[in-house]
Amino acid sequence: MKVIDAEFAKGFFRMCVDGFYQGWHERNGGNASYRIKPEEVDEVRNDFGNINGSVQDGEWQDIGTTVKNLACEFFMVTGSGKFMRNIELDPAANVCILEVDETGTKYRIVWGLTKGGRPTSELPTHLMNLEVLKNRDARFRVVYHCHPTNIIALTYVLPLDSEIFTREIWEMATECPIDFPEGIGVVPWMVCGGREIGVKTSELMKKQKIVIWAHHGAFAAGYDFDETFGLMHTVEKAAEVLVKVMSINVYKRQTIEPDQIRQLGKTFGVDIDERFLYEKRPGARIGER
Ligand code: 13P
Ligand code: ZN
Repeated sequence: MKVIDAEFAKGFFRMCVDGFYQGWHERNGGNASYRIKPEEVDEVRNDFGNINGSVQDGEWQDIGTTVKNLACEFFMVTGSGKFMRNIELDPAANVCILEVDETGTKYRIVWGLTKGGRPTSELPTHLMNLEVLKNRDARFRVVYHCHPTNIIALTYVLPLDSEIFTREIWEMATECPIDFPEGIGVVPWMVCGGREIGVKTSELMKKQKIVIWAHHGAFAAGYDFDETFGLMHTVEKAAEVLVKVMSINVYKRQTIEPDQIRQLGKTFGVDIDERFLYEKRPGARIGER
């Protein structure tokens, strides 16, 4: 089967293009990765080698970090500097499939990037996240990075504190504590595109599945494309509500209270992390404890 006809590839392309239509992928902003299932690799293996003109032509390259637990696995990844909006027109020019070697330190492109290029500059973060997530629960396969406006806006006005960020976002939509009861991870501003920010992000992905990069964007992880995209969509929607509330007032007249969030946990059978249910002092402004 051709890669572009495979269900997993169609799901990957759709997630990227949907993100563009949400306004989350200006220019080349954002990137995505998917840890392909062995049976899916078998389905498309006869289409590998379709590299036409890629500078690497299948040579092993350094990942820039070590992901031993991903050795010999295959990944679909967006290309660096490629625009998400172009994936709709020509997926093979903007996306690639790569194979990680047996040491977990090198990769080679086996499909895609037909007009040249290399995998996303955030490859270390994507692969380190996927490794940590696989160790946590082998069903995790998707990592998605984008630049959602309201989430980014909040990183200028809320303290860069996971507990406060989570609590303020949880209060903006009833579904939030049910969808991500482990809360939101927050990484302070760091230089992107390298190993260091990947180490920091993957440390948080050991427990959480949504991590915000201050003044930059967010990473979401999930078992499949719908869940991963839906998680990002949910957090960004709640962030938009919070931006609107903060534009009206620095206080909330009423909100979803900690005991109500506990009730949600019981009703929906999810384990709500008590860390985020701290008591706020009377008269606290939004973003204060
Ligand atoms: P790439 O084009 O290398 O994927 O970079 C985009 C981006 O969002 C960096 O964080
Ligand atoms: Zn980015």
